[in-house]
Amino acid sequence: MAGKRTALIAGNWKMNGLVADAAALAGAVAAGAGSVNCELLVCPPAVLLTTVSDASKGSKLAVGGQDCHAAVSGAHTGDISAEMLSDGGAAYVIVGHSERRADHGEADTDICAKAEAAHRAGLVAIVCVGETEAQRDAGQAEAIVGGQLTGSLPAGASAENTVIAYEPVWAIGTGRTPTAQDVQAMHNHMRTHVRDSHGAAFSDGVRLLYGGSVKPENAEELMALADVDGALVGGASLKAADFLAIAGCCR
Ligand code: 13P
Repeated sequence: MAGKRTALIAGNWKMNGLVADAAALAGAVAAGAGSVNCELLVCPPAVLLTTVSDASKGSKLAVGGQDCHAAVSGAHTGDISAEMLSDGGAAYVIVGHSERRADHGEADTDICAKAEAAHRAGLVAIVCVGETEAQRDAGQAEAIVGGQLTGSLPAGASAENTVIAYEPVWAIGTGRTPTAQDVQAMHNHMRTHVRDSHGAAFSDGVRLLYGGSVKPENAEELMALADVDGALVGGASLKAADFLAIAGCCR
């Protein structure tokens, strides 16, 4: 990665963990956060946010949500606002994860509104994009990701309030990853795309994370790529030793 961007290793715990596990896992990650050369973030289920915030107090570990509603408050049963996440100790929120896009029918316009809500609440939005296997096989990966970026990034996105995560859908939880060359090519494409839409300051400063089957075994190669500024980690973020080993690959 380029020297001026600080790498971010983010753990997406998805729908995993109970209070006791979350406190232990966050405590173990927080204990190692001071000895890695990157920012560390974990995104637990919302109900565990305060547990994880408490366990990470006084450490360099940051906490984030996995999704937010676009509104501040109101009649939206089961939803959580960006302001509520912030109140619970979050500094980041993931928006547009492919599991939200698939399971909840979220479209780029919804994700754009959620990212704006994150910014309104003072959170950094981690905007996720990525193609399906069929789209990649059809040679459409760059066009799909470009379209998602155009639709999902708010006009007010800055390098300070936004992170972009490239997560090819077919690499999530499968143990398969694109080749290092394919990851670098896509990240370079994304950086060029956002330079056109949001300008050079954004494209030079915004952190582009790779996500999809990141493990200690493949992190070294992925984190060394010029346009990869960190990782969004699912399964391997549920083991403190693996998560910290991935973070240890950031130079
Ligand atoms: P895995 O690391 O389990 O493939 O999950 C990636 C992911 O979806 C992170 O958001």
